[in-house]
Amino acid sequence: MCGIVGATAKRPVSEILLAGLHSLEYRGYDSAGVALLHNDELFVSKHQGKVAILEAALQKQPSPSHIGIAHTRWATHGVPSAENAHPHVSNNRVAIVHNGIIENHDQLRKGLQAQGFEFVSQTDSEVIVHLLSVELHKGSDLDSALGAVVEQLDGAYAIAAIDIAHPDRIAAARHGSPLVLGIGFGEYFVASDPLALRQVTNRFIYLEEGDRVSITPDHYQIWDKTAASVTRPVVELKDKLDQASKGDFDHFMLKEIYEQPRVLAETTSFAGLPTVDESIFGANASEIFDRVDAIQIVACGTSYHAGMVAKYWFESHLGMPCNVEVASEFRYRLRAKRPNTLLLTISQSGETADSLAALRDAAPDEFLASLVIANVDNSALVRESDLVFLTQAGPEIGVASTKAFTTQLVGVLILLLAFGRRKGMDSGFQAQLLQALRTLPDDVEAVLVQRARIEAVSERFIQKHHALFLGRGVYYPIALEGSLKLKEISYIHAEAYPAGELKHGPLALVDEEMPVIAVAPNDELLEKLRSNLEEVRSRGGELYVFAPQEANFESSDRVHVINMPHCDAITSPITYTVALQLLSYYVAIQKGTDVDKPRNLAKSVTVE
Ligand code: F6R
Repeated sequence: MCGIVGATAKRPVSEILLAGLHSLEYRGYDSAGVALLHNDELFVSKHQGKVAILEAALQKQPSPSHIGIAHTRWATHGVPSAENAHPHVSNNRVAIVHNGIIENHDQLRKGLQAQGFEFVSQTDSEVIVHLLSVELHKGSDLDSALGAVVEQLDGAYAIAAIDIAHPDRIAAARHGSPLVLGIGFGEYFVASDPLALRQVTNRFIYLEEGDRVSITPDHYQIWDKTAASVTRPVVELKDKLDQASKGDFDHFMLKEIYEQPRVLAETTSFAGLPTVDESIFGANASEIFDRVDAIQIVACGTSYHAGMVAKYWFESHLGMPCNVEVASEFRYRLRAKRPNTLLLTISQSGETADSLAALRDAAPDEFLASLVIANVDNSALVRESDLVFLTQAGPEIGVASTKAFTTQLVGVLILLLAFGRRKGMDSGFQAQLLQALRTLPDDVEAVLVQRARIEAVSERFIQKHHALFLGRGVYYPIALEGSLKLKEISYIHAEAYPAGELKHGPLALVDEEMPVIAVAPNDELLEKLRSNLEEVRSRGGELYVFAPQEANFESSDRVHVINMPHCDAITSPITYTVALQLLSYYVAIQKGTDVDKPRNLAKSVTVE
């Protein structure tokens, strides 16, 4: 997704802006640009492609400028190109960068064209800079001009603007897209993500919906949506910077897969087991949990798959009704009220536009309370939910989610224990679950030991264009997650089905060219799954079976068995996931794709 960095300081800022853009690269983008002010002149450089191209261009013309704004663009309106890249400029005096989508851009554009403005890009964002020009022309200062502009915008935005008549000032505003203010010594910054500024500060103000801010090197001021001057709390971030480096690994994704034993253990110990310390969810969590009879989960992508697993767990182990729905559907349909139902959102970033909109769209009397399982503290979902469980995965840089998913599942298991206490969970099962959580890091280590075997079978996917994943019961969402990972990073078209559905349609796809990946734990559905796999074998399909030794699958010419460690049934969806992550990773390596930044995808989807 798009990224914003802005800086006003008493020293040159172009290095700060570039470093900021580099740290936002993992989020996915197609072009990058910067606007710098110096000696009453606006200097703009923007390029399609990597930040490194922009960097090389700036090295040829180093700028001593003390103020600038920069952007990485992920195309929504208009193709990836230098013209469509930000910053956009009007009248050679004012420049803006924008994240989000301006829904009424067409109508605004027509009005501006009628006033004689010429548009050089196909973007929705360009209207903002010309509107700003109009307001500045009327004699407004930059801050009030931006205030007047945002009044005219429908949609979502985070905007930062500079103007040659205000040589040390950045004006910025947010509505629907994240924006933080970074506090330095004799310098202030804005960015769409604090990660972009961690090289220069660890002190941030998270701007709220409708806030505007003005920064100079010595001063900042914030106005809320009613234009009243407000103060917002300063948050000091304590996470370590080195987590954002690849270390000895070739890719962030592999590093993050390997971090799982540690972060799963940290997420478990965060809950203070054996008795869940419910204060970690929020001060009044116990009181709210006492009243919960059912759960509605809303999430997107991989986090949605975590929600699907949660449904199996809540209903089968607690008999607690649990629905799960993708946020982009949930937010747009009429819904029945659910008395005593907890609205549970699940999100790695805590900023996903659809999940956030679903939370905001829920009527005050529709649900009992809201809880988010998120990985990023201070993110919008965290700030706006009644209760929070923070997974301890640490920054996830690879676009394809790995450790965030498995720690989300641990978060769900902690919640299961919290509700188990109230819903009469069998004490034997509770002891088993606690023991399974204790041994989970070792179980995952045992899967990582299979790396070489998984890497070897991945070679067989080089020429493949399609793949089918099968699972049954709680392993169906794990099959879905495996297929999502494979398609995201290897670009192989992959589908997942509950194995029992095979003969109702997808079996027609199976021939010698179709690899079929089966998640086959030794559980009560194993024999049913075995029959499904026979159906594949007798049609010439090639099988990749992830199964423990006790399941008695034998490798042959067209059957490749990947041995899974013996581990507890309750946590084994997590261990099987790790094996499928490794498979996708190595297939992507064989295919030569950009594993950490797959094409067309963004890490944090802050637009609809
Ligand atoms: C897939 C992936 C995405 C995200 C989805 C939701 O690997 O990462 O499907 O899971 O965009 O993002 P969050 O969890 O940040 O709400």
